[in-house]
Amino acid sequence: MSDKTPATSEKREMWSGKLAFILASAGSAIGLGNIWMFPWRMGTYGGSAFLLIYLVIIALIGLVALMGEFAFGRANKTGPIGAVKAAFAQRKLPGGAVVGLLPVLATGAVTVFYMIVVGWVLYYVGLALRGFAGQDLAVAFNSFAGSAGAVPWHVIAVVMTTAIVYAGVKKGLEPVNNILLPALFVILVVLAVRALTLPGAQEGLRFIFTPDFSQLANPLTWFNALAQALFSLSLLGCTLVIYGSYLPKKADIPQAAAYTALFDTLAAILAALIVFPTAFAFGVAPNAGIPLLFITLPSLFAQMPAGALFGTLFFLLVAFASITSAVSLFESAVEPMMDALKWDRKKATLATGALSLIIGLPLAVNQPLFSTWMRFTSAIIMPIGTLIMMFVIFWVYGSARVRQEVNEGTATPMAPWWDFLGKYVAVIVTMLILVGGTLRYFGLWQ
Ligand code: PHE
Repeated sequence: MSDKTPATSEKREMWSGKLAFILASAGSAIGLGNIWMFPWRMGTYGGSAFLLIYLVIIALIGLVALMGEFAFGRANKTGPIGAVKAAFAQRKLPGGAVVGLLPVLATGAVTVFYMIVVGWVLYYVGLALRGFAGQDLAVAFNSFAGSAGAVPWHVIAVVMTTAIVYAGVKKGLEPVNNILLPALFVILVVLAVRALTLPGAQEGLRFIFTPDFSQLANPLTWFNALAQALFSLSLLGCTLVIYGSYLPKKADIPQAAAYTALFDTLAAILAALIVFPTAFAFGVAPNAGIPLLFITLPSLFAQMPAGALFGTLFFLLVAFASITSAVSLFESAVEPMMDALKWDRKKATLATGALSLIIGLPLAVNQPLFSTWMRFTSAIIMPIGTLIMMFVIFWVYGSARVRQEVNEGTATPMAPWWDFLGKYVAVIVTMLILVGGTLRYFGLWQ
């Protein structure tokens, strides 16, 4: 590996156009986070008051961080390992490659649990087709997840993702995102219309949109909105640096960041418009995460007229959202292997698939282990990845330099105050998320 521009830059694949890149970034961003966490967080922490905070956070931190990661990748024409190494080398600091490896590992820890959930989702598409009929869904889920029966679905999810990423940026990632992302929005709208026209749906709508401004004084509201924004926008310090490294100089980074944030937020709001009205129409309180997706909602689809149809559409939606995120998670390991180990894409992809299976299998058959891994990763590992990358981009590489890269090829250049948002706001907020997540993981903040 050279300390200057990586040798692989000539052969590097590029996105075929502006739209392809926006769809890929939005595809990475829109995922389980939008569907299983956003609606619940919004409903729990103040309804439209939460939404307001969330939008402010996206505008002040999300956009800056997105632009920073895209530009850092593009400037260095390489992913996190090569880019951090170059930034360190320029400042004559040692250890850049090791520091750059940390966000890669953090993202890998997410990939491991994410792929298990993708497997469950695929299994549920089949269950939904049969209308979830005649089952106690809590019993059914608890005997499926963490059992040997979940393993084939985990394998299918990994093999499918491997096959897509194996084909490369132009032949694998692009066609999948080009098809699945628009399809996902069509399904979101269809399901939102269905949910909003259920008798009693207005209650849910009223509940979720009634602003409870007292929640603004609750630190947990801010913590949840910030954690949601970082995860939902895929800002873990690896994926979007890599996606940015496949961008040509003429690409408009501020515009791409704005569209990514817009689509991601739109998908989250539409998911809330599905989850809350549906739950209220059936008189249940919507919850979050795994129980919401695999127990609560399926049991509501089972009671709904044409529930097999809407249930199948819903799980297709979740499948599409999670596959476009899964390919970006795989790419987050493949590119670093190609860069640091000089492997070709095929070898790197097969290794990523194999690792994801080997590390994932013990978790796939052990539900308590799975949830510990997921909780620990979300609370502590993920913010470490984000923090490292924010610090390297805005302090080590330098905010003025990264802004110069952001401003190349754009019609809306960022002014110097942008540096302040990156250097101080984004970095300090990420530190707080790490502290808050750690306290919460160890039960010191409830
Ligand atoms: N943003 C994705 C979601 O909301 C998760 C993800 C995080 C994907 C980091 C890639 C990288 O589900």
